[in-house]
Amino acid sequence: MRQRVLSGMRPTGPLHLGHLVGALKNWVLLQEQYDCFFMVADWHALMSEYEHPEAIARNTRQMVADWIAAGIDPRRSVIFRQSDVPEHLELYMVLSILAPLGWVERVPTYKEQLREVTGRDLATYGFLGYPVLQAADILLYKANAVPVGEDQIPHLELTREIVRRFKFLYQADIFPEPKPLLTKEAKLLGIDGRKMSKSYDNFIALSEGPDEIRKKTQKMFTDPKRIKMTDPGHPETCNVCHYWEVFVPEQAPKVWEECRTSKRGCTQNKQELAEALIRIAEKFRSSPVDSNPVDKILAEGAERATKVARATMQEVKKAVGLS
Ligand code: TRP
Repeated sequence: MRQRVLSGMRPTGPLHLGHLVGALKNWVLLQEQYDCFFMVADWHALMSEYEHPEAIARNTRQMVADWIAAGIDPRRSVIFRQSDVPEHLELYMVLSILAPLGWVERVPTYKEQLREVTGRDLATYGFLGYPVLQAADILLYKANAVPVGEDQIPHLELTREIVRRFKFLYQADIFPEPKPLLTKEAKLLGIDGRKMSKSYDNFIALSEGPDEIRKKTQKMFTDPKRIKMTDPGHPETCNVCHYWEVFVPEQAPKVWEECRTSKRGCTQNKQELAEALIRIAEKFRSSPVDSNPVDKILAEGAERATKVARATMQEVKKAVGLS
């Protein structure tokens, strides 16, 4: 039997190139080896966006469209929305009851977000439970592996601790301990040289148009040691050259060599990169946003996810003495 993977993304904004290289490309490959569940984490999105939730439903549709354009196959993988499967909240309740307060308060992302996130009030009862809901997402499907970025490792660790506690309390071996599948790809930097992120407004969205991509690419930082075009470039420290390696690997050696030997200036380098990125973004721009394929995929996904979730909840209710 194939092992199971579950992962999710929060629909808080448009997907960008960083998501594509950091997560999506990896998800597409995982479909070859695992039975995959890919979830739009809209409850998690609501935890931070509850004061202005109006974009969540639209972002959910756009996200699913982008996933499919990237190569997530709705026939092979289960693509679903968290809030369509109420069992997530049932299991979340059970896990909340048995997760010691100290464990959740200790999760580093929690304190960090309270400190760093501005413009939103995250000091709520629900937000403390963020990683417990994430544990419920994973355990409901008995996932063996969870592809995540480095920042999510503490959430996986909490999930594993909860599994052990559940097993100890109820002498019931329902959940496998999920292991993290770390994405090897180094973080993609944004156009300002910081990590590409929605909150820094330094991203290139997957659905961005050609003019926007040209404008943003022109703004990218290059090798700071290269002042004049005749100076030899240092591609290994240039973000634009790094993009060539990530997005057009077959041409990168030539580009890097021309940069080193001053045959290629930074302006030309950015112009040509922009055209390459425009070609990559093309398939996302033409992806169906509002049309029913997405709604149909979500409806089918909800049905397939619910079957698994219901069966798990029956076992859980029995184990904890509710049925
Ligand atoms: N917390 C994850 C993030 O911000 C999103 C998420 C929610 C998730 N539930 C999940 C990821 C379950 C993996 C598994 O990226």
